[in-house]
Amino acid sequence: MRATHYTFHTNGRVSNLTVAVCADLHDRVAPAQKAISLLQDLRPDLIFLPGDIVENHPEPYGCGFAFLRDLCSIAPCYMSLGNHETGGRHYYRKGTTLLMNEPNSYRNFITDIKATGVVLLDQSYVETKGLIVGGISSHLFRNADEKLDHHPIPTAFLEDFSSRPGFHVLLCHHPEIFPQIAAHPIELTLCGHAHGGQIRLFGRGLFAPGQGLFPKWTNGLLELPEHPGHKMLVSRGMANNTPIPRFFNPTQIPVIHFV
Ligand SMILES: [Fe+2]
Repeated sequence: MRATHYTFHTNGRVSNLTVAVCADLHDRVAPAQKAISLLQDLRPDLIFLPGDIVENHPEPYGCGFAFLRDLCSIAPCYMSLGNHETGGRHYYRKGTTLLMNEPNSYRNFITDIKATGVVLLDQSYVETKGLIVGGISSHLFRNADEKLDHHPIPTAFLEDFSSRPGFHVLLCHHPEIFPQIAAHPIELTLCGHAHGGQIRLFGRGLFAPGQGLFPKWTNGLLELPEHPGHKMLVSRGMANNTPIPRFFNPTQIPVIHFV
C-alpha cells in the first residue's frame, strides 16, 4: 500500500489543507494495519471514506469498525456508503431468514457505523475547513427477492448540494455514475469501487464492477471534456475482496493537497 499525492489548485478558494482518501478496505485486517500506520505518519487534516470499508452483515463485525474508530483518533472522518455497506453485493442468511434487508438489522448496522465517530453522509452534506463535503450512498441494494436492484441517482440532492456557494467535495462510491455527477458544478468527486481494474496493463484496468471489461474510470484524477473543472479522483482502494489477485495495481491511499 502506498500514498499517492495529488496537488489540487483551488484558486485561493481553499487554503492549505491535506486530506486522505480511504476506500475499499472490505474488513481486511492487514491492509487496515498498514493504512493506520501510514496515516499516523501522514497526519492529514481530514479523512474521507467513499465506501466499502465495512461489510454489511450482523455482528460480530469485521475489523472495519475498529479501523474507523482508529481513524477518528487521527483526523475528523467523513464517510459515504458503498455497495458492501448498503448490502448491494452480499446478503446473509440465518436459517431461512434473509438478514441483510431486514430493516432492524440494517438500521443497527448504520447506527453502529455512526457510533465509531465518523460523520456518515447519506444524501447529506456538512461544511468543514473551507469545504462543503457531501456524500451519496451506493444506489445498489438487494430487494426482497434477493435480486440486485438500484435506487435512482439522487438528482435533487445533487442540485441542492452543488448550488450551495463554496468548494464542493462529493463522496460517491461509484465512478461509473460520473457522467450524472459531473453534470452538476461539483469541483471534486471522490470514488472507489473499481479496485484499479484489478489487473493493470499499459496504465489501464482490465475489469471493474459497474463498468465491465476495459473500464474507463479506475484510477487517478479525471474529468470529462464536456464538464471541465468537475473532476473525479478514483482510488484503487486499500484491499482486495475477490480471489483474483491484483497485478501492477498496488493498493493505495490518495492524499490530496489543496492549495
Ligand atoms: Fe464497491
